[in-house]
Amino acid sequence: MKLNKQLVVKQFSSEITIASDVIEKPIPVLWENDVLIKNIYVGINALYDRELYQGRVPYIDIDLPYVFGVEAVGVVIEVGKNVKNVALGQAVSTVKVGTAYQEYQIIKQEDVIKIPEATPEYLTLNPTGVSAYLALKNVAELKDGEIIIVSAAAGGLGHIVVQLAKHKKCHVVAICGTKEKVELLKSLNSCDRIINYKEEKIAEVLSKEYSNKIDVGFDSVGTYMFDAFLQNLAPLGRLVVSGLATELNAPYFEKREATRVYESIYWKGASVRCFMNHLYREQHQEARNYLFDLYQKGELRVKVDQTTFSGIESIIEASEYLLAGKSCGKVVVRL
Ligand SMILES: NC(=O)c1ccc[n+]([C@@H]2O[C@H](COP(=O)([O-])OP(=O)(O)OC[C@H]3O[C@@H](n4cnc5c(N)ncnc54)[C@H](OP(=O)(O)O)[C@@H]3O)[C@@H](O)[C@H]2O)c1
Repeated sequence: MKLNKQLVVKQFSSEITIASDVIEKPIPVLWENDVLIKNIYVGINALYDRELYQGRVPYIDIDLPYVFGVEAVGVVIEVGKNVKNVALGQAVSTVKVGTAYQEYQIIKQEDVIKIPEATPEYLTLNPTGVSAYLALKNVAELKDGEIIIVSAAAGGLGHIVVQLAKHKKCHVVAICGTKEKVELLKSLNSCDRIINYKEEKIAEVLSKEYSNKIDVGFDSVGTYMFDAFLQNLAPLGRLVVSGLATELNAPYFEKREATRVYESIYWKGASVRCFMNHLYREQHQEARNYLFDLYQKGELRVKVDQTTFSGIESIIEASEYLLAGKSCGKVVVRL
């Protein structure tokens, strides 16, 4: 009997080493509409996972032990007797909370997303690239030629955001925290200004160079980064909160004595908006079509972090690596 190695949440904790465990379970017999996939690469969403294994994602009910991980690419190795449209050996992409961090997974045939090959690049495009596309379209409402500033710009999400923004002929300001990330951003040929926040002070640079000029702030960091973006929004500017890396691990969000957020934005008619990928499910196919096409035409570069992580056990190491802010591009684990 084939065994399936899985990384599961066994108890709630803020430390992945305490929260998780590696277990092995037999692969169940397939139902008639089921498709069995051998996962080949899984994507690491360490900031999201950390909320999940603390039981703090409000829309997810967790029954322990709980397999976690969101996205994987792999190949079909078995199908149920009613499965007609999926052949053995087909490369597929899967995106669902609670499915990825395991060697095998079973999905319904209607959930299969066919991809040309099970590579880290397609894994990055779906769903990280999809998030970039949907957030820019629906939340940022980015228009041609606008000024956009992107934090965590050399990360999995950020490096796609800056490229899509450049496709709209925007002036792109990219923020990151290491020299390696600066080099990655330069290689994309999409950024007009790159700020390494370890070498330049964000608030000072923005007030000097972009005061009242930011049409779109695209922030995944929060706290001081959010404040600096908010302070410098243009009239009708949009500040998109796509992540809160600096807030999420604390027991409570930072409490501050300050006026309400509308003081900064009312007279500018500006706004603060939040993005949440799963709320745009009906647009996922459109986003994938757009991104896969761009990638296949060579008009979108997908950067995958070059550190090698192999096997279910190394998901923990890969997560710690991302949380330490070391990653350049998308972090993936080869199973
Ligand atoms: N809302 C949604 O639906 C959605 C969907 C996808 C992703 N996201 C969010 O988008 C962000 C980017 O995700 P990603 O997977 O592509 O990660 P990532 O950007 O590859 O990695 C996170 C980066 O955030 C920066 N960072 C700043 N402060 C940090 C802190 N305290 N801890 C950890 N990282 C910190 C670091 O880059 P620098 O040092 O260069 O700043 C780090 O490399 C995350 O916050 C994620 O939760 C949200």
